[in-house]
Amino acid sequence: MPLEIVTTIAELRERLRPARRAGESVGLVPTMGYLHRGHATLVDRAREGNDIVVTSIFVNPLQFGPNEDLARYPRDLDADCTLLAVHGADIVFAPSVEEMYDRPILTHIDVDGLSGRLEGERRPGHFRGVATVVGKLFNLIQPDRAYFGEKDYQQLQVIRRMVADLSFPLEIVGVPTVRDEDGVALSSRNVYLSPVERQAASVLSRSLAAAAATIGAGTVDPFKIEATIRSVLATEPLAEPDLIAVTAADSLEPVDPEVPPSAIALMIAVRIGRTRLIDQRVVAVP
Ligand code: PAJ
Repeated sequence: MPLEIVTTIAELRERLRPARRAGESVGLVPTMGYLHRGHATLVDRAREGNDIVVTSIFVNPLQFGPNEDLARYPRDLDADCTLLAVHGADIVFAPSVEEMYDRPILTHIDVDGLSGRLEGERRPGHFRGVATVVGKLFNLIQPDRAYFGEKDYQQLQVIRRMVADLSFPLEIVGVPTVRDEDGVALSSRNVYLSPVERQAASVLSRSLAAAAATIGAGTVDPFKIEATIRSVLATEPLAEPDLIAVTAADSLEPVDPEVPPSAIALMIAVRIGRTRLIDQRVVAVP
């Protein structure tokens, strides 16, 4: 079936109605476009598990801070549609901002406790914007399953909690981070990097690998784990750490070395030049 491009909510509902009536399952991959192999992997997973695959492409203004990159966020709908067709998506929902928010939005979803910490402390309002748009997309599309990358690990936990708390009737599927050969997590924001910065970016995954080895060798002290990450990041002059978090993988609470969790989530945000990159790794505690 060829890929259908839908830009209005009315068309989207119209298009999905017969599928719903026929009892077909719907998988959703929410994105902001400028798609790469990481996004494609989510689409592949959705394709395997559902009758209909919907991908949304919407650069959501609600989740960008006033000094963030909303205006320059990269966009290329034609290339995105080519990739989605190759990976067998059925529908791309690419609404305008006016279509999604036809009046100032007064209703928001706040996942208290999770949204304001860590990355949420660095980016006030970010996860509220994410949860609100994802909740809205869930209502519009009513998917049976929705696919999210572990790369945005806190985002994945925020969405999981929102779905549990508000009883959204769907399954959230987390997908491991897809990386380039040098370990750099694929990201739409990697286009901002100069060649030299792109090389420097591999320090993020290298710092996480070193921390994973430390944990594998029996260390659960979060300060030692953080120091390991910091020491590797310090070897790269272009890298400026913005966030280093060592938390229990499921709760995102700080790690208590006396009562170590079964898995530790490492989350980092690092500035390379003007670009802020994030990476993550979940490590089982031996
Ligand atoms: P975006 O950054 O476009 O990412 C869309 C989805 O792709 C997210 O679930 C993200 O975690 C996943 N993803 C990105 N890079 C990945 C990689 N290298 N490997 C695996 N998965 C990867 O995240 C958003 O958009 C937005 O916040 C959104 C959820 C769409 C709400 O606006």
